Amino acid sequence: MSSSVSLPLGFPLPRHRRVVRANRALEQAISEAMGLRRTVGQGATGDLVDVLMQPTARHGSLPDAVIRETLAATLLASENTSAAGFGWIVHELTRHPEIQKTVAAEAAAVLPASGPITHAHYERLSLTARVVREALRLWPPNWMFARHVMHETVLGGYTLESGTKVMVPAYVMQRDARWFPDPLAFDPDRWLPDGSGSAAPQFAYMPFGAGPLICMGMSWSLIEMTLATALLTRAFHLAPSSAAKVVPDPSRGLSPAGLRVRLAIRSDSGNTADLPTTGGTMAGCPITGRAE
Ligand code: HEM
Repeated sequence: MSSSVSLPLGFPLPRHRRVVRANRALEQAISEAMGLRRTVGQGATGDLVDVLMQPTARHGSLPDAVIRETLAATLLASENTSAAGFGWIVHELTRHPEIQKTVAAEAAAVLPASGPITHAHYERLSLTARVVREALRLWPPNWMFARHVMHETVLGGYTLESGTKVMVPAYVMQRDARWFPDPLAFDPDRWLPDGSGSAAPQFAYMPFGAGPLICMGMSWSLIEMTLATALLTRAFHLAPSSAAKVVPDPSRGLSPAGLRVRLAIRSDSGNTADLPTTGGTMAGCPITGRAE
């Protein structure tokens, strides 16, 4: 992203050498994990490593290289995206205290004071889910993705030759006033299920992509971000730190660089039993990694 010239990795540049070294280290770590799994036995955890290593009736056993590549791709596709998305949600909640208050009230009403949180609870967090959706509209972590044209295609009046690379800028589309009136306003009620909000046409909103390559982690991350938002706002009041100056950083997905948040325990929060804690206190701000 930092260079307009794309040279092959074999070209001897310091950053190319770093990329090659990092790729090798990742490949080795994944191979070791697979070796370990073979030693201790598969199927024990049912996690992605197990699933990929189990032979299936249709495909038999996948070659090791395919398993390695799939694990590496999933790791890279999942690590920064959810973190950036959650960062933007927190950022918007600090900018909209009235919405934050309602989200916290919804969480207090829906989530159990103790015991497990289930999918049924998630389904009742409708405002929180709309907040997540709206944050991903304004700030899609994958702000641009690509397609290769396989055969000559006419798109929007343009003839695209086979082999052309087409960039799909979700960030631009999701801020287009033709599809989202008052596009820069943070308005979770755009997504009211009764349709009273401004409904966008299909494919004007695609933070997770679309079509056969749509994000495999979409449902999982929506649940994760909705529950994380509910748990955080139920327990804490979020306010921007005076030192914070948030700047969108597009270099590794679109992330809120410089985000600093002040957390104050909500006196009306009921409890914080379900929050990950260390010795009874929060280990640090989940966004900045330090208590502020
Ligand atoms: C906020 C969180 C996330 C966002 C915004 C996001 C977004 C995206 C986008 C835009 C694509 C490209 C789709 C396309 O080209 O049409 C993608 C692909 C993918 N995502 Fe996500 N993603 C997120 C979280 C995750 C998570 C948590 C996982 C895994 C656990 C994951 C796994 C993948 C994989 C494996 C692909 C490649 C799919 C393929 O090429 O077949 N993503 N994601």
